[in-house]
Amino acid sequence: MTTTSARPTAVPSIEQLPQPELRTNTDIQGNVLAAFNKDFTDFRYLHFPDAAKGRGWLSAILNTVATTSETEDFNEQFSLARRAFGRDPALTAVRCGVSLTFDGLLTVAAEPEQLRKDLAAFTAFGAGAAARAAALGDTGDSDPKTWLFGAGTGEQVVHAVLIVAADTEELLTEKLKNLDAVEHAHRIGRVHVDRGRTLPGALKGHEHFGYKDGISQPGVKDFHREDPERKGFRDNRAGTELIEPGEFVFGHRSEQGDRKAPAWMKNGSLQVVRRLRQDVAGWNKAVADGVKEFTGTMDATRLGACLVGRAKDGTPLAPPGSTVTGLGSDRNDFDYANDPAGRHTPWVAHIRRTHPRAFAGVNDDHPKSHRLMRRGIPYGPAFTGGKDDGEDRGLMFVCYGTSLEQQFELVQQHWSNDPAFTPGDPKADRHVPNGFDKVTGLAGKAAIGLEDGTHGTVDLRRFVRTTGALYAFTPSISTLRLL
Ligand code: HEM
Repeated sequence: MTTTSARPTAVPSIEQLPQPELRTNTDIQGNVLAAFNKDFTDFRYLHFPDAAKGRGWLSAILNTVATTSETEDFNEQFSLARRAFGRDPALTAVRCGVSLTFDGLLTVAAEPEQLRKDLAAFTAFGAGAAARAAALGDTGDSDPKTWLFGAGTGEQVVHAVLIVAADTEELLTEKLKNLDAVEHAHRIGRVHVDRGRTLPGALKGHEHFGYKDGISQPGVKDFHREDPERKGFRDNRAGTELIEPGEFVFGHRSEQGDRKAPAWMKNGSLQVVRRLRQDVAGWNKAVADGVKEFTGTMDATRLGACLVGRAKDGTPLAPPGSTVTGLGSDRNDFDYANDPAGRHTPWVAHIRRTHPRAFAGVNDDHPKSHRLMRRGIPYGPAFTGGKDDGEDRGLMFVCYGTSLEQQFELVQQHWSNDPAFTPGDPKADRHVPNGFDKVTGLAGKAAIGLEDGTHGTVDLRRFVRTTGALYAFTPSISTLRLL
């Protein structure tokens, strides 16, 4: 095991490190590279009655759309003040982001036929989330027929997703009032609204099952600062490798060269929005009952952590990686190379399925091309324990990237839902079926065999169901101006 001691004084402080180029970008919308990170985040799914009204609304809200630069400036001021004063500073802001679905782009485009040609290679985006649902496991009670948005016809077709994010409920309400007036003036239809809210008290930063979320994010070259002590890794985030910005924003270098896209998509990004309802009482009961299926030392806390890959407070089950130095508070400095058989972090664990890190034995030429920039926030009231209270609660899952097929869809369809996928050494210890990601994958078995000999297989139904989903494009500010 390797640990870092205090930083030598010769190493520059964060303020002295060079400013990466993309941090000051004023064309890429906020939330793609720099998270809005707000406790109160509304999602509005909107319908344009016609091209003129859609364009009118877009030009009216253009000035409220946040840039990467202002979003990152705020985040940086916030974290510097927190470090200086040891508590959250009283800094507040409202940030907006807008994305257009394929139907939305076609509605406002000056030349829809050219747009269709431009997007011909973007198969998943053109088809839309509802058309891709069956392949992604959105069947049964997750079938698009049951969705609140994303599968409607006529006036229920979503053209735009507006994200309005604020640090306080008052700021959000005030901003929404202004936006209501703009929607009204342009006769914009509202298909649905979701209210994302961070959970209260000690659950802040956690999702509804109780696990800390938002820990592991990709590091981005030219956006995040590089660790002066460890080239290729992000400063101040132990173990976070920097990958090419073109993985998340069009028109920049990606891990495989350049992801091809027409010029108007430069500085834009593809967005996935999924409304994932969580059955917390069901999950809690299944985890408590599942303990009986194990031989050895197992309790609900340990089994839950095995299914997620981290304990509720975020501590990973993985021992520090063999090739990575440093320990962070939200530890992310591991790569599974020292755990090919899944004896620390089981193969079924959500974080191992969705980001297998060291691809020991897995045939993948571009392992860094499947990362997601996640921007989720819970919705609905916190679960207070006991029996199912019937409340609708879950996660507004949002992610950005430049390939729906290689990023979100690959992770959901193959890594989470394919029992044959082994995020470890395929030759090692195959006596048990690998199973499914039990947080977001299909119903079925999850086999776990741990270092201390504890082993067993739980057969679980699904506790997360999809209740709405969309694919959208988050254009650059300059492209928004041209629409
Ligand atoms: C990580 C929960 C849906 C992809 C995590 C973590 C938790 C979590 C607790 C660990 C904390 C962290 O590293 O940020 C959930 C819940 C979901 C959900 C409760 C649904 C209700 C999804 C979906 C995907 C996904 C739909 C993609 C298909 C990821 C990825 C990571 C992650 C890529 C980071 C893994 C790593 O780098 O170690 N999730 N998640 N999650 N999740 Fe989810």
